[in-house]
Amino acid sequence: MQHLVAPSLLSADFLNLKQDIELVNRSKADLFHVDVMDGHFVPNISFGFSIIKQIKEIATKPLDVHLMISNPDLYISDFREAGADWLSVHYETCPHLHRTVQQIRKMKMKPGVVINPHNNVELLRDILPYIEFVLLMSVNPGFGGQHFIESTYQRIAKLDAMRREINPDLFIEVDGGVDTGNASQLVEAGADILVAGSAVFKSGDPEQTIRKLKTLS
Ligand code: DX5
Ligand code: ZN
Repeated sequence: MQHLVAPSLLSADFLNLKQDIELVNRSKADLFHVDVMDGHFVPNISFGFSIIKQIKEIATKPLDVHLMISNPDLYISDFREAGADWLSVHYETCPHLHRTVQQIRKMKMKPGVVINPHNNVELLRDILPYIEFVLLMSVNPGFGGQHFIESTYQRIAKLDAMRREINPDLFIEVDGGVDTGNASQLVEAGADILVAGSAVFKSGDPEQTIRKLKTLS
């Protein structure tokens, strides 16, 4: 399978959000990555339902919504109504993760689980059969433009071995500090989805950068 590219709108120009969404629509990107932060689970606040609804109105590709919020269980149906197609929750925020994942699936979204850089991928072993994707943070969540953490390659490889054994259809998504310099190595290690925020939107030619992330050229 060819890997997917998901530009993160966190680094888009919010005063010209429509233009940036249209740029992603016509690019080789596969998904819109939408980061929701609550100022509680992570030390930053991004955007919520009304913005996501508006993004959904013009986006022609699925919305991959990454929840960096405490108590995500309270809002699963709201995110569905806002337009989420893929919905990921942090392992660290869900004491009843199996139930949360079932709820997400019941709402007709693809369930994903996210882990922070310090958490061992082994934690995911028992939930792997129930989810569609794992999002491995390659920075500490909360901000765009941070430095990629090198141990991510080994973590992907470890998760790749585990999914072959338990759930070969699982997607591995990597988020944080991804750029055209490390994309090939990430895909080689086993990544299926590359999230890139600043590498795309802070580049001179975002469409071309998306193409490079897609073709690994
Ligand atoms: C960080 C977010 C990322 C962020 C990535 O907490 O989850 O999706 O937008 O930004 P870059 O690609 O700039 O590291
Ligand atoms: Zn994200």
